[in-house]
Amino acid sequence: MKVLVTGGAGFIGSHLVDKLIDEKGCEVTVLDILEEQVHGKDKKPPEYLNTEAKFTYGSVTDYTLLQELVQYADVIYHLAAMVGVGQSMYEIEKYINHNIHGTANLLDILANSEHNVQKLVVASSNTTYGEGKYNCENCGVLYPDLRPESQLIKKEWELKCPNCGLEISPLPTDEETPFNSSSIYAYSKQSQEEFSLLIGDTYGINTTVLRFFLVYGTRQALSNPYTGVCAIFSSRLLNNQRPIVFEDGEQTRDFVNVADICQALVLAMEKKEARGEAFNVGTGNTISIKEVAEILTEKINPKLTPIYNQEYRVGDIRHCVADISKIRNKLGYEPSFTFREGVDDLIEWIKKSGQAFQDTSEKALKELKQKGLIK
Ligand SMILES: NC(=O)c1ccc[n+]([C@@H]2O[C@H](COP(=O)([O-])OP(=O)(O)OC[C@H]3O[C@@H](n4cnc5c(N)ncnc54)[C@H](O)[C@@H]3O)[C@@H](O)[C@H]2O)c1
Ligand SMILES: [Zn+2]
Repeated sequence: MKVLVTGGAGFIGSHLVDKLIDEKGCEVTVLDILEEQVHGKDKKPPEYLNTEAKFTYGSVTDYTLLQELVQYADVIYHLAAMVGVGQSMYEIEKYINHNIHGTANLLDILANSEHNVQKLVVASSNTTYGEGKYNCENCGVLYPDLRPESQLIKKEWELKCPNCGLEISPLPTDEETPFNSSSIYAYSKQSQEEFSLLIGDTYGINTTVLRFFLVYGTRQALSNPYTGVCAIFSSRLLNNQRPIVFEDGEQTRDFVNVADICQALVLAMEKKEARGEAFNVGTGNTISIKEVAEILTEKINPKLTPIYNQEYRVGDIRHCVADISKIRNKLGYEPSFTFREGVDDLIEWIKKSGQAFQDTSEKALKELKQKGLIK
């Protein structure tokens, strides 16, 4: 099987490439632009990239190059993307170009040139749901919008029912939940998935969308201050700086180990039930950001304590947890790690990678504040 992985030098992509080569015996080509924010200045493929993968430097926005690579592929994993949610709100052209235009190129090629592609798997995100699914004791199930600014200014963090005003609680968000994107990044993921499923259906290309929740694991870009809360906290702790927790820290997330993401990516390729479908990939469990900060602090730099700054990020959600019954029932996916079990690998790797990188989170925070995206 010949597989093309766009964004295959990145965090998730490189783990997938390992699995495809080492466990599935695939012939893998990677197309990656080696974005500086993720890979540093010198534009060299990362050391961890599997030596048996054929690496091509370049962008999915380069039609001719992409067309050449598509020609050789039986399967395509489309993971290439710019991944900073906050950053996408001011680097709008960049995010639309890489994420939407890049996907448009891929689909245009699939629609117009001769190829043998039998399977397309596209990486989407829980951000397309916004807050997702909630329950109000008076009104039942609802899909609320983001918390209004008038509420956040008062530091009232929990969501309230838009009908009766009662505090509402999160429910596991299933795939039937309507889209409610609240950033350019989320819209770009939403477009990627809708365009891909439409073109896949139109031309009979077996296409699957996976909506990843918050992914953590080794090779997460420690250098990218715009994304990945585990990496951002760890990076600060290694540089003797306290992790900064927004709101009160009681906001929750569904953190999924990169190994489980790869499990889902391979199931999406192999299982016929995946055709034409979108699936959540998470664990179905949550952990608060406060707990994440405390676990990482204790394990990396126990002299420090996290800062709870009671500030908030514009457009942020309060809670999210995946309903994973669809992928469990249809594809046989079963997460193998809880956050507490999976985080040790990440920490060990972070410690090994040492202090060789610059913590750029202060610069990122300043930038986001200047743009009015942190208040
Ligand atoms: N990490 C998460 O928590 C998470 C959650 C939901 C969805 N996702 C999605 O998973 C995918 C992989 O994310 P990741 O966490 O591994 O991020 P990453 O930044 O580590 O990897 C993305 C890779 O894509 C490359 N890239 C960016 N633009 C490109 C372009 N135009 N052409 C070719 N390559 C390009 C980058 O250089 C990078 O190596 C992305 O599509 C992302 O939106 C990630
Ligand atoms: Zn209500």
